[in-house]
Amino acid sequence: MPEEEILFKTTDKQIDESKQGAVYQPESSKASNENGKRFYIESYGCQMNFADSEVVASILQENGFSAAANYDTADLILINTCAIRENAEQRVRNRLRQFNRVKREKPEMLVGVLGCMAERLKSKFLEQEKLVDIVVGPDAYRDLPKLVEEADAGQKAVNVLLSREETYSEINPVRLNSNGVSAFVSITRGCDNMCSFCVVPFTRGRERSRDPQSIVKEATELFERGFKEITLLGQNVDSYLWYGGGAKKDFDKQTQDVKDAAVHFADLLEMVAKISPKLRVRFSTSNPRDMVDDVLHMIAKYDNICNYIHLPVQSGNSNVLERMNRGHNREWYLDLVGRIRKIIPDCGLSTDIITGFCDETEEEHQDTLSLMKEVGYDMAYTFFYSERPGTMAERKFEDNIPLATKKRRLQEVIDIQKINSEQSNIRELGKTFEVLIEGVSKKSDQELYGRNTKNQVIVFPREDYQKGDYVMVKVETCTSATLIGKVIKA
Ligand code: 5AD
Ligand code: SF4
Repeated sequence: MPEEEILFKTTDKQIDESKQGAVYQPESSKASNENGKRFYIESYGCQMNFADSEVVASILQENGFSAAANYDTADLILINTCAIRENAEQRVRNRLRQFNRVKREKPEMLVGVLGCMAERLKSKFLEQEKLVDIVVGPDAYRDLPKLVEEADAGQKAVNVLLSREETYSEINPVRLNSNGVSAFVSITRGCDNMCSFCVVPFTRGRERSRDPQSIVKEATELFERGFKEITLLGQNVDSYLWYGGGAKKDFDKQTQDVKDAAVHFADLLEMVAKISPKLRVRFSTSNPRDMVDDVLHMIAKYDNICNYIHLPVQSGNSNVLERMNRGHNREWYLDLVGRIRKIIPDCGLSTDIITGFCDETEEEHQDTLSLMKEVGYDMAYTFFYSERPGTMAERKFEDNIPLATKKRRLQEVIDIQKINSEQSNIRELGKTFEVLIEGVSKKSDQELYGRNTKNQVIVFPREDYQKGDYVMVKVETCTSATLIGKVIKA
């Protein structure tokens, strides 16, 4: 785990840049148009990136490629990259150097870089760094087979065009490294929020929503294949809006009939929840500025929409939030948390926090600590500020907080969250939760683990239960990261 990024509670459901190796291991069936080329794909960054790699695997499979179990047996190595912080990029460069050592022995092998770092650096990857043969941005994955042909022919293979329409809507993603129980389904791409610290609007382009029918179809097929949990993914799920494919900015100009028929995020949640009461629905990420009470009421209405919201605050100080261009202030955020607590009484809450943003004073930092205490998050993803080229903050403000101060503040944030997480788990002692079993515990093969509706991990004795079962588990003890209990039989 990188030193400045501490995840409380191990979870593969949030950003974890150290995660890698979503290696495509499909069933043995061969594509009828097999071209003899084998690919290997590795993913870094957020859930969106992992979901995109599943789209890429599907596109390659459709075009006759098959999977290699290891990178050194592949003809094509792909690395799906993240640009959110400098150290995320550094990790990718180190990995590319490793791949290049293999390439020296095997010059016909191609290395391709996908995702946010590809979009940010564009053809610089080919020209300056000379580390790769193919560069593909997040909206150009359909072009990958053609780019491979071009690279094979010794040409420069770059497509970093961003699109206003691409949602890969009808592509059926290949489920990589799946536990067969939970799957991610993309509902929006891109982001229009322009938080001043964030590179995403530049790497993933304008926000667009995916046709709800294709979302419901994908989720239904997953359920029919035995999946029990769907996480709807988007940079800002609350701004999901579908009214027939038009741009969001034109919605106000539509007729009343079109407006009435539009699908907002709360409607989409209901459509997916109705597939089956045995299908759990989760979503990520919520942006406080766009979250509306309709969504909260919908969560409360359906038992299978999980009572868990990841609601990044970034800072507890309104002036910092203003500089971050977050579109919400401290009071507004706390008011929203109050409404969540009222409408969904036992709702899991997690957040993202950045320490040491430009000009952050000690008092402003203290406001973050006090907000964390006030909200009592179950979990927090914490980072120190890393300036990204091209962002609004890079152009407008000086990155003037010394690294040591950023790190010290981060540690203070982590210390508070440790207490919050412990208290959150202690509150659950003696309670009984419905748990969806995800697999065998890493620590002991005699134990299983799963999650409750609040996204808390619960470990319990294996007995005869199986992955994918729902069981009622009474919490008996806990560590700061995990609840430990026993199945209660009906
Ligand atoms: N520096 C540090 N953290 C960042 N994040 C986004 N951009 C930066 C940056 N430049 C964090 C935010 C966001 C999460 C995905 O990553 O907290 O919510
Ligand atoms: Fe995901 Fe953002 Fe990293 Fe892109 S830059 S992979 S959107 S976290």
